[in-house]
Amino acid sequence: MKIKSILLLTVIICISASMKAQTPIYLNDNKPIEERVKDALSRMTLEEKVRLCYAQSKFSSAGVPRLGIPEIWMSDGPHGVREEIQWNSWANAGWTNDFCTAFPALTCLAATWNPEMSALYGKAIGEEARYRKKDVLLGPGVNIYRTPLNGRNFEYMGEDPYLASVMVVPYIREVQKNGVAACVKHYALNNQELWRGHIDVELSDRALHEIYLPAFKASVIEGGAWSIMGAYNKLRGEHCCHNDLLLNRILKGDWAFDGCVITDWGGAHNTREAALNGLDIEMGSYTDGLTSESEFTYDDYYLGNSYLKGLKDGTYPMSTIDDKASRILRMIFRTVMNRDRPWGTFTTEEHFDVARTIAEEGIVLLKNSPVAKKEPALLPLDDSLYKKILVVGENATRSLTQGGGSSELKVKKEVSPLDALKALYGAKIIHTQGYESGRPLYSSVDEIPAEVSAKLRDEAIEKAKEADLVIYVGGLNKNHLQDCEAADRTIYELPFGQNELIEGILNVNPNMVMVLLSGNAVEMPWVKRVPAIVQGWYLGSEAGSALANILSGEINPSGKLPFSFPVKLADNGAHAFDALSYPGDNVKEIYREDILVGYRWHDTKKTPALYSFGHGLSYTTFGYGKAILSERNMTLNGSIEVTIPVTNTGNREGKEVVQLYIGDEKSSLVRPLKELKYFNKVTLKPGETKNVKFIIMPDDLKFYDDKREEWIAEPGKFNVYIGTSSTDIRSAVGFNLQ
Ligand code: GLC
Repeated sequence: MKIKSILLLTVIICISASMKAQTPIYLNDNKPIEERVKDALSRMTLEEKVRLCYAQSKFSSAGVPRLGIPEIWMSDGPHGVREEIQWNSWANAGWTNDFCTAFPALTCLAATWNPEMSALYGKAIGEEARYRKKDVLLGPGVNIYRTPLNGRNFEYMGEDPYLASVMVVPYIREVQKNGVAACVKHYALNNQELWRGHIDVELSDRALHEIYLPAFKASVIEGGAWSIMGAYNKLRGEHCCHNDLLLNRILKGDWAFDGCVITDWGGAHNTREAALNGLDIEMGSYTDGLTSESEFTYDDYYLGNSYLKGLKDGTYPMSTIDDKASRILRMIFRTVMNRDRPWGTFTTEEHFDVARTIAEEGIVLLKNSPVAKKEPALLPLDDSLYKKILVVGENATRSLTQGGGSSELKVKKEVSPLDALKALYGAKIIHTQGYESGRPLYSSVDEIPAEVSAKLRDEAIEKAKEADLVIYVGGLNKNHLQDCEAADRTIYELPFGQNELIEGILNVNPNMVMVLLSGNAVEMPWVKRVPAIVQGWYLGSEAGSALANILSGEINPSGKLPFSFPVKLADNGAHAFDALSYPGDNVKEIYREDILVGYRWHDTKKTPALYSFGHGLSYTTFGYGKAILSERNMTLNGSIEVTIPVTNTGNREGKEVVQLYIGDEKSSLVRPLKELKYFNKVTLKPGETKNVKFIIMPDDLKFYDDKREEWIAEPGKFNVYIGTSSTDIRSAVGFNLQ
């Protein structure tokens, strides 16, 4: 009997082994991805390889039906999973299972200055994308905040390449742990929306490498991004979606990127460049794309029939299609054909908690002073002092997750500031709209009929007369020509008559807490008259809850500005020159401020911002001791340790972002006065001191020498500035690089 069973077992093992042996390598999860890629490629016809390289619908690209290789499904966006879109148009599909969690906008994530928040964010949004069966999440965006007018700054991570680099990496890694590819965008120099489809950006190699590329480089090298989205605009005459310098030489050459380059929707413009300059998947070209209906079918895409023809007649080398197809297969094996990937979750309490936590950590307290001398600061609110609290401003009730372009969301939940304040302060709360921003096409005060604004304003002023406290909730919104894709703002000031409204209220009631919800800096002519100012962002599903927790003191604010708030627009580097510098002449644009972007401009040109990069107050205070260096001389293969004691000198626990900037005292080329090189967010109990430590490395001293095309550090004196913002430096100390 025993022998029989052993024989039977042996036969079964042989059959299963031979079965395994017959399973093609590309279908075998236990095989290394590179072997699966090679095996699949060897089985594919030329037509099948080319078919991988372009869309089959609005948000999907083809697979290989004959080999059982699935299609790839993509979805916006950086702040949550967009509702299902129709097969071949921008209209929504009207599904009822796609109401998502809205996480805060990426400016808010950047404002946390806390990489742990980025990891939480990536995990949660990755779970939602996975649950919705999306293989590519079209985000995050890391274009640098060059001008306060850019319509899409709210989707990005501020004006400093180091902050954006540190804050984007955990998001990418955590999204991809769900078997969903992040698609970092828009590579590169998409720093405005006006003329975005064709504006041809000119800038120095120094500005390119020191300011505009680092966050993309970190996304690839540290983040391991599986895909990158080409930008709409041109760089030095070539569209970024098929740009030899950006894609072949830098991304796939220097950075050894092994993932896929995907166009922005409609970003491809010709077959030759698309074939030769490193583009892998073409999406959104004309067919019901960004502009108009056409008879243009998907096979007419630039990487469709004309590319196939060019391969067959030898115009384009076969190596180009093998490279594209290999990268696409690699992304397929990392996502949709990765059987080990988790299953995701959707609109869970945990995700709402993540959204609220990030919002709470990203809200920035810009100003907090008493209304009259000897009184305590207005925030946190002590509601025992108030019988009537007026909440005024359209953003107290308006949904800020809808609109804004492709990052729009159809949400399961969105707690408004008014709802949350009512839940907190009950009948004490009275509300009035204050101003009207109208249907999505209204853009600024002159678009709203004067009598409409006047009526709302007068009502608000009347109510403010009888209130003990006014909580103003205004700012920008996701209207066209506001914080919205495909156009830039045309004014730096608050729109829809808000300034007149604010001044009118202050004339009758100085007790105002100002809450600005926006993704951009705005002009603040009333800044001296307003005792407390809170910069809230587009805060997502738990916006109201987070805001109420900050205003009430339930949570101690710890956000820091990821970009400067210039006093006036002309104080910003992009606006300090001629129109060619911004917005360009509808053909070309020259970044004349070069490397001096944001605080680099304000510091070096000595035009202080109203609120500077890295600024943010707390309900407690922090004292800094002296920075101590481990040595005063450094060599190019050495390092220097910096320690600085930071103390919570107030009476409640708080988080402080200790920022370290470095300045090169004397250099052969222009360099900013100082540049952010490290930061560390520490939690301190009242009276607690922590010794915060940083290690300065040679790379932190280097600038990009565009003559020698390499990063170099010149010997001489360097200054270390440590502070609580880029302008509030608490300790400075120098050392020599030998
Ligand atoms: C849009 C945006 C891009 C988005 C894509 C798909 O035009 O520029 O960020 O992911 O098209 O909606």
